[in-house]
Amino acid sequence: SRRRRRAVPKPKVNLSLMKEDPKVVTQMDIEDLGDKIAFCRCWRSKKFPLCDGSHNQHNEDTKDNVGPLLLRRGEE
Ligand code: FES
Repeated sequence: SRRRRRAVPKPKVNLSLMKEDPKVVTQMDIEDLGDKIAFCRCWRSKKFPLCDGSHNQHNEDTKDNVGPLLLRRGEE
């Protein structure tokens, strides 16, 4: 027999950022990035799209393991 299952909504990644936008897209010029930059991938940063360390609290609260994308200019 087939059990009818209630449809469980899939979890959202973005809980609160720029919800008025149909899609959150960030554009930056590579030239403006400086020598080191950390981009948020947890969607919890108050400085999104930059990382502000909020992933640490998120990981602690949820046992997740997310972290930023770190870009740095290589040494010449
Ligand atoms: Fe989101 Fe650091 S705050 S990755």
